[in-house]
Amino acid sequence: MSANQEIILSGIRPTGRLHYGNYFGAVHHFLRLQQEGKRCYYFVADYHALTTITERREVYRQTLDMLRTYVACGLDPLQSVIYRQSDLPSTAELALLLGMITNIGHLERGTTYKDKFAQIQDDPKVAGNPLSYGLLGYPVLMAADILIVKADVVPVGDDQRQHVEMAGDIAQKFNARFGETLQIPRSVARNALRLPGLDGAAKMGKSDNNTLDLLDDEKTVLKKIKGVPTTTDPAPLNTDSNDPNDIVPQMAPGVGVLYRLLHLLAPEEVYLEFVAEYRAQGKFYGKLKQTLAQHVSAFNAPIIERYNDPANGDDAIKDFLRENAKKVTPVALDTVESCREAMGIGRSLHRG
Ligand code: TRP
Repeated sequence: MSANQEIILSGIRPTGRLHYGNYFGAVHHFLRLQQEGKRCYYFVADYHALTTITERREVYRQTLDMLRTYVACGLDPLQSVIYRQSDLPSTAELALLLGMITNIGHLERGTTYKDKFAQIQDDPKVAGNPLSYGLLGYPVLMAADILIVKADVVPVGDDQRQHVEMAGDIAQKFNARFGETLQIPRSVARNALRLPGLDGAAKMGKSDNNTLDLLDDEKTVLKKIKGVPTTTDPAPLNTDSNDPNDIVPQMAPGVGVLYRLLHLLAPEEVYLEFVAEYRAQGKFYGKLKQTLAQHVSAFNAPIIERYNDPANGDDAIKDFLRENAKKVTPVALDTVESCREAMGIGRSLHRG
C-alpha cells in the first residue's frame, strides 16, 4: 500500500441484517475494490442511524450484526479499514465546523430531508424523529465522514449521490474561504444496481418489507421467492437482446425481479434457458422460482456459516473495531486540527 494511493470511503447505515439490495448495491462493490487492493475505508453510520431509528436500544446490536454480516460476506478488517462512525467522534466536531459555512437553503434541498418533509406534510405522525436539526444536517455529517479521512473516491448508490456532491461543495467553499485545507472527493462510482423489491416495488428496502436477506435460510428463501407476484403471463419481448437491462423492464415487476436475481446468481446458461422459456411463453414460473430459490440458498449458505462462526462473534468484532478506529484516528485528528486552525480558533491545546 503506497502512501499516495487513492482512498476509497463508503458508509452504510446499520439496519441489522443486510438484504440483497444492500449487497448488490453496495457491499458487492466494496468487495471488488478490496480485491483490487485499493485502500478502502468502510464504516457503519451509527450516528446517522439516530435520525430515523425508532428503537434506540437496538442501534448498537444492529451495528454489531451488520459488521458481522460484512465480514461474513468477505470484507476483511485486516485488508480494509472497517470501523464504526461513532468511534471517530472527531467527525462530530468537523460536522460542527462545516455547519458554520453551510447554507440552510442548500440543506433544505437535500433529498433525505425533502422526502421526510413531504412525508410529514402528508402525515404528521410518521414514525421516527420529527424534522430534526440532525436530519437537516444529515449531509453535513456525511461531508464530515468523507472529508475527515481525506477520501478521494466515494462509491455510493444513486440515492446518495447528491449528498456526496454536497460534500464536495462544502469542501470547496471551505477551501475558498479559509485556504486549501480539505481534500475534495474526486468521483463517485455510478454503476450501483438498484434492486427491485420481492413485491415488485421499484426498490428493495427494509422498511418496505420486501427484502431477500443474506441470512435467510433455505425455507425462508423458498417461501419468499414463491410469494413473488407472477400473475401476469409472459408477453412477447420486443428485442433479441438477453441483457436483463433490456428485457426486465418489459416484464411484469414480480417476474422482472426473478430474472434480475437469476442473472446475478445463476450461471449464464441457466439464465438464458429461462429467457428462452419466457420467449416461448409457456407455464414455467414454478420451475423458475424453484431454480432461483436453490441459487439464492447456495449463495447464502457460506455467508450464514461464516456469520455463525464463533470466531466472528461480538468480541472479535469489537477487537477489530478498536484496532481500526486507532488506524483512522490520526488522519481524522489531522483534518480537524487543520480546519480549526484555518477557521481561526487554533489547534486544540490538549489533544495529542
Ligand atoms: N447516508 C448513507 C446511506 O444512507 C450512509 C453514509 C453516511 C455514507 N455517511 C456516508 C455513505 C459517507 C458514503 C459516505 O446509505
